[in-house]
Amino acid sequence: MWHELRSNRAMNLRASDIREAFKLCEDPSVISFAGGFPSPASFPQLSNTELANLLASPTALQYGPTEGLSELRDLIATYLVQKDIPTNRNNILITSGSQQGLDLVAKLFINPGDVVFVESPAYVGGLNAFHNYEAKLVGVEIDRHGMVPESLLSKIEKVQKLGLIPKLIYIVPCYQNPTGVTLTLERRQEIINLAKKYNIIIIEDNPYGELYYNNPPPKAIKTLDSDYHVIYLGSFSKILLPGIRVGFLVAHQEIISQLAIAKQGTDLCSGSIGQVFALEWLKKFSLEKHLTDIRVYYKKKKEICLAACEEFLPPNVEYTKPEGGFFIWLTLPKDVDARKLLPISIKEAKVAYVPGGGFFVDQRGENYIRLAFSQVEGDTLVEGMRRLGKVLEQALESDSSFFLQSTSKLNQLSLAK
Ligand SMILES: Cc1ncc(COP(=O)(O)O)c(C=O)c1O
Repeated sequence: MWHELRSNRAMNLRASDIREAFKLCEDPSVISFAGGFPSPASFPQLSNTELANLLASPTALQYGPTEGLSELRDLIATYLVQKDIPTNRNNILITSGSQQGLDLVAKLFINPGDVVFVESPAYVGGLNAFHNYEAKLVGVEIDRHGMVPESLLSKIEKVQKLGLIPKLIYIVPCYQNPTGVTLTLERRQEIINLAKKYNIIIIEDNPYGELYYNNPPPKAIKTLDSDYHVIYLGSFSKILLPGIRVGFLVAHQEIISQLAIAKQGTDLCSGSIGQVFALEWLKKFSLEKHLTDIRVYYKKKKEICLAACEEFLPPNVEYTKPEGGFFIWLTLPKDVDARKLLPISIKEAKVAYVPGGGFFVDQRGENYIRLAFSQVEGDTLVEGMRRLGKVLEQALESDSSFFLQSTSKLNQLSLAK
């Protein structure tokens, strides 16, 4: 059997247990708040000729340097310097999306059993990347101001007492996936102080930082780093196009050299077509103007979604009020199991969401829901929230104890109206 030939590491690979439920989303009448994708309406609108012109360079068709196209790295460095991140092209590695950055950092730093501190809850793609390299994931409490430094400190001390090796702290500091919360400047300072004191590297994963609705978020943690304690991940996926698969990693030059070697074993270089697209688009069009437009676009959606939360959600369901990004995080009463509710919500009420449990590294979080409003448009957004409100209302009205034991009563709910 081929199964027996798998590596120990591969035995660690996890399939998503909610994948079956999401197959039901293929039904076009389902309104889905599940995928945290950017809306195609936010993509730059280009004619075929403009697109062809952007990609006309022969560079687009050839292999490129592992570190990425120099001109693109220079442009990114200029952008980062404006954000007070002192850098130059030698500190930058172009990656195939920031997801590859997470994988490469894990590849470089993690031995089986090494500890990665993660937000509790955290971005699932980050958890998977570290899990695949057999890291021990330790959840750190977050509240509406992001990761709680006191919780981080107590977890670091516990880990040290157990003789485990803390290596990384993984943080999505702005409009976090899945909760929408943003780390305050004060906490950014406290967390980097801890990272320096205990010699741990922070991965600052910031794909949403430019998608603020009113005021820009606090300065990047990377601005507070004078040596190697922060590896910063950026991405064009949410602000331009995810299909080009262009992200970037900013780190100490020696770390970049090592990561480039690790990347060679993965894909030699990120796709040249995507890089040339990003480069030529940035040269020809104004990123700032584009960002201004899409901030307005997403802000409107957030307002519609929050108004619908207010109108349709039962009063004992709490929700976050993000200042940017794509996500709202619902807290249901403790005994409600959002995972069990999902299939019935999709089948009967035709509305989908992501249940919270998968974002936690310990066995909890089933009474949370992540809503991504980024892809759902105006009236449909309101209708989706109305349906979700009804699902939750009916679930909460029923005998709450059954949620954790059986779905029998859920099957009796008729929610499709
Ligand atoms: C927090 C976070 N990090 C990383 C990614 C990966 O993005 P990409 O690889 O497209 O840059 C995502 C995508 O949803 C994300 O939400």
